[in-house]
Amino acid sequence: MTTEMLERRTRVLGPNVPIFYDCPVNLVRGESVWLWDADGRRYLDCYNNVPHVGHCHPKVVEAIAEQAATLNTHTRYLHEGILEYGERLTAKFSHDLTQLIMVCTGSEANDVALRMAQAKTGKTGFIATDNTFHGNTSAVSQLSTRRPPIGGYQDHIQLVPAPDSVRPAGGSLEEQSQAFARNVEAAIAKLEESGHGFAGFMLCPTFSNEGFPALEPGFLDPTIEVVRTAGGLILCDEVQPGFGRTGTGWWGHDWMGFAPDVVTLGKPMANGHPVAAVVTRPDVMAAFRGAFGYFNTFGGNPVSCAAALATLEIIEEDALIANAHDVGAYALERLRAIEHPLKAEARGLGLFFGIEFLQTDGSAATGFAGRVVEAMRHEGILMNRIGRDMNTLKMRPPMPFQRDHADLAIDTLEKVLERTPL
Ligand SMILES: Cc1ncc(COP(=O)(O)O)c(C=O)c1O
Repeated sequence: MTTEMLERRTRVLGPNVPIFYDCPVNLVRGESVWLWDADGRRYLDCYNNVPHVGHCHPKVVEAIAEQAATLNTHTRYLHEGILEYGERLTAKFSHDLTQLIMVCTGSEANDVALRMAQAKTGKTGFIATDNTFHGNTSAVSQLSTRRPPIGGYQDHIQLVPAPDSVRPAGGSLEEQSQAFARNVEAAIAKLEESGHGFAGFMLCPTFSNEGFPALEPGFLDPTIEVVRTAGGLILCDEVQPGFGRTGTGWWGHDWMGFAPDVVTLGKPMANGHPVAAVVTRPDVMAAFRGAFGYFNTFGGNPVSCAAALATLEIIEEDALIANAHDVGAYALERLRAIEHPLKAEARGLGLFFGIEFLQTDGSAATGFAGRVVEAMRHEGILMNRIGRDMNTLKMRPPMPFQRDHADLAIDTLEKVLERTPL
């Protein structure tokens, strides 16, 4: 069955289509934090952040069905849906971030964010970290380092070394904050020299794709100062930490403690329905609308808005941010208690946690982390790995994840760690 489906996949989708696990999972059903395969086997989902309020949450399903049976058009007509959702969403932001554009993917949102910074500053140079992913439009893939763009990086992009809590730049976490800002300052100088000028710095406030290093709020203070002094915009990609995953509030930037100029949202926003958005201040929006107008055929359609509104309401009604705080702290405490010869660091923030492994010679234990992920899949626990060397286990479950789910996942992890060859 699996082999036949893989062959069909290659035939239909072409080669080299990313897929998880040596023995891929054929999922047919989901509910809350659980997934079932075609043989009826149940898996605990410790990976997926898109089904944010739980797989197939009935309230989201009903909202989508009801709106789809009533009307689905686009934003060139008046419709209450986008107005109500826009008001409810922007009420969750401070710093005068009061206006939004709805799109369909995080990539599109980041693409728009880049153009907002260009429109506001009149400049075209951007900075990102050297170990990140912000999406896959042509413009945004210049800021995504997993697969370098064809023709290489263009010189309007400068990449600065990503923060790292196991091997911090400058030797300590405190020094790393200053070192990071100095690198940003040097990158800005290069952009100015090259004639592009500095339009903005796109960053994830929790550096999730960089391997979610353990940082403290305030880490970015010196960097924000440098960016502001140079007149660039902070483009804050909340696709990963947004909507309460950190367990500290709605947004990662509030946890980190800075005021972005533009915020982009995606993945968890409508529980699996393709919805993303860009939220910004009126002055930035005016510059962008003045330059581009902007219409997105599917962005902000009534069904998308209904799905997004239901998701937002469930986060509140089910107190999912408090749950992320409680269960995340509990899981992290358990991960910290694990003893293993290759364990370099257990870390996490809210419902995003894992362990980084290093070989005894200090090199990345990439193969070991991979074997652990595969073994966990066979034990019925779905998770993955991340980091520059893919040596950090990544657990990022749907938000209704409870302490007993964490126990099941981590009890299983302990067993798997014991028997996995180093
Ligand atoms: C931080 C971040 N930004 C943007 C994106 C792109 O989002 P999408 O796949 O919806 O285009 C991703 C996807 O993984 C992401 O992790």
